[in-house]
Amino acid sequence: MNPGPIDLCAAEDLSEHGRAYTFDLMWQGECVSAFALRFKGRVVAYLNRCAHMPAEMDWNPGEFLDADRSFILCSIHGASYDPRNGQCAGGPCGRGALVALAVKEEGGRVTWYPSAGFEPLSFT
Ligand code: FES
Repeated sequence: MNPGPIDLCAAEDLSEHGRAYTFDLMWQGECVSAFALRFKGRVVAYLNRCAHMPAEMDWNPGEFLDADRSFILCSIHGASYDPRNGQCAGGPCGRGALVALAVKEEGGRVTWYPSAGFEPLSFT
């Protein structure tokens, strides 16, 4: 059963290339962290799980971007990801990618649309 859209935060909470909104969800039977951030005007969201090793990546809570605010940078071993699509852009993530979540910005809110295999914590 699909839980339907999940409201995450106000659109204005996500500043351009700024701090991410973080939240937890169930994925493959495991509670994992995820984040949404605004990059080049668009809101994107991914699991907070590096493709190199299953570790959380943020430097400080909600801080995922590098010093130039150009790439998502894993704080563990420095893998970098293109924020637009989650593809590895350098470092030990090889041909890997972040796991993307379907999000939309509408009516001044950021909404997550869970797909198969993803569930909000409150739904389990
Ligand atoms: S765990 Fe992210 S680069 Fe190694």
